[in-house]
Amino acid sequence: MASVLLFSFQDFFSRLFSSSSEDAYDINVLFLRFLIFCGIITAIIGGAIIISVIRFREGKKPDEPKQIFGHTKLEIAWTIFPLAIVIFFFVLTLQLMQKINKSIPKGKKADIVIIAKQWWWDMRYPDLKVITANELHVPVGKRLLMRVESADVVHDWWVPDLGPKVDAIPGQPNYIWLKAGKIGTFSGACSEYCGTQHAWMRISVIVESQAEFDKWVMNQQKIPDTPSDSVAKAGASLFEKKTCMNCHSVSADPTDAHVGPDLSHIGSRATLLSGKVANTKENLSAWLQNPQQLKEGALMPNFLLKHEEVKALTAYLEELK
Ligand code: CUA
Repeated sequence: MASVLLFSFQDFFSRLFSSSSEDAYDINVLFLRFLIFCGIITAIIGGAIIISVIRFREGKKPDEPKQIFGHTKLEIAWTIFPLAIVIFFFVLTLQLMQKINKSIPKGKKADIVIIAKQWWWDMRYPDLKVITANELHVPVGKRLLMRVESADVVHDWWVPDLGPKVDAIPGQPNYIWLKAGKIGTFSGACSEYCGTQHAWMRISVIVESQAEFDKWVMNQQKIPDTPSDSVAKAGASLFEKKTCMNCHSVSADPTDAHVGPDLSHIGSRATLLSGKVANTKENLSAWLQNPQQLKEGALMPNFLLKHEEVKALTAYLEELK
């Protein structure tokens, strides 16, 4: 439930006080300052309105307050005071931006490359030659440089527990540092409207110990085994025949076609369709049977597969762990 109500109040407050990264904590503190300050201003203005309404209501004498049109001192005061508040928060924001957007050492290449696509996330680790989708694994406590770009329209990367958001813009890669301070799974979402399935462009960041991460990397680098049983074997040959390979790779090779998500280890992921449904046989079958019913607008065509074909392909894909 918590993953569905991504921005519930309970979630918000638990996030506010238990951020899982230093950057996210600093952002939350700044936001809280804004919130308190704006709350005070709202209370003052709201209070003044309520007092005026009661004090100068019809029938009460005097029914009109003393008019102060052209009061120079007052006009100066209510120009300078709000301006000072805006400048104060502008400076605080600039300071925090400078702290979070640490400069990138010369020649430093991105540890992780995120390519936003309608409507899922292509995730690559260039040095490790690993490619996956929607579920990012990172080792705890390591500061990683992330390059965020887009293959189509403007998207926006945001995992609130782990730091700031950043736009994914076609032709304009943006860089962001990611350092998770806590082990766990943290959810995020695309936060720039990007089309029909914008709401189902969820992100999952799995923060684990270095040893667990290394284990995951080793598995991801492995070329998947050939299927063991006959149904899955039939699925593997269908995968080639039905031109699935034109868009999806199952060879753990980042240089293969990646129009759609890499499927080399799809069986090891927790969700399908960028966090929309759990990774189960039933959901995968339903998707293969009629992609548009499960995620309208998705670029996956309906291949009008027969029941046995769906069964075989599902068996094959679920084996790719
Ligand atoms: Cu991608 Cu909104």
